[in-house]
Amino acid sequence: MPVDFLEGSDPVVVQSTTMIDTSRNILGWPIKGWSILVAWLVLLLSVDSLIIAINGVTEPLFSQLARFHVRAAFFMFWLAFAASPLAVFFPNRITHRLMAYRPYFGVCFAVAHLAFLFTNIARVPLFYSGKPFDLTGPLNWVLGGSLYVVIIALAVTSFPAPAQRLGNRRWRILHTTGGYLIALTYLNSFGLRALFQAEYIPWAVAVLVLLGLRITLEWKRHSAKLHTVVRECCVRCCGMGGP
Ligand code: HEM
Repeated sequence: MPVDFLEGSDPVVVQSTTMIDTSRNILGWPIKGWSILVAWLVLLLSVDSLIIAINGVTEPLFSQLARFHVRAAFFMFWLAFAASPLAVFFPNRITHRLMAYRPYFGVCFAVAHLAFLFTNIARVPLFYSGKPFDLTGPLNWVLGGSLYVVIIALAVTSFPAPAQRLGNRRWRILHTTGGYLIALTYLNSFGLRALFQAEYIPWAVAVLVLLGLRITLEWKRHSAKLHTVVRECCVRCCGMGGP
């Protein structure tokens, strides 16, 4: 049975995790979850084949492939990371389902992002210009590359057995921190491009909406605690009750 990937105790979230068919499973995932992943792989490979058929094996082709993979990954990441606030703020059948399928969207994101990394690695020797860091500087390789450790850790702990070994608290810290790191990297990549190319504005806005949803949820969950801390500070510092 899939692990309860709960980031809070909202009843809507608890209910949504019970909606997936758990009758037959492989590595703790129901067949439905695997079919989403297989359909995603088929879609990625079909679009890759189409791009290759149209362009042939050229440098612009690899650029298109890289952009397609990283944008497809973003789509799945958005669904996975937005599922929890959407289910809390707009409780309905669709958002409950989104919540229940969140682990599968997360792994689809990881697969597409690894395809992006593979495309970027392959294009260096295939179209070698004499400068190994022509396309991506060494710092970007190190910073961007280290994020793949997080992406792989998130994907592996989307399966019940590794998640249970990690424990609920550590699982939540890894997935929440990892999610924010990935969202901020997307904000940096799309945001910087959006400053000069209008094409990227909708992508940057999508990242901002995602971060807005998540931060509003954090605020909702922690505002009572924050109020208590502020009130205690006010009482200690100036003898007043505070807000
Ligand atoms: C070793 C790690 C990485 C390398 C070598 C790398 C390299 C690149 C390159 C070469 C491009 C330009 C593609 C082109 O237009 O031809 C690119 C674009 C981009 N990268 Fe990365 N990247 C890395 C990691 C990441 C990570 C971790 C993220 C996000 C979580 C990310 C997000 C993006 C985005 C959003 C674009 C813009 C794609 C577009 O034009 O739509 N990258 N990256």
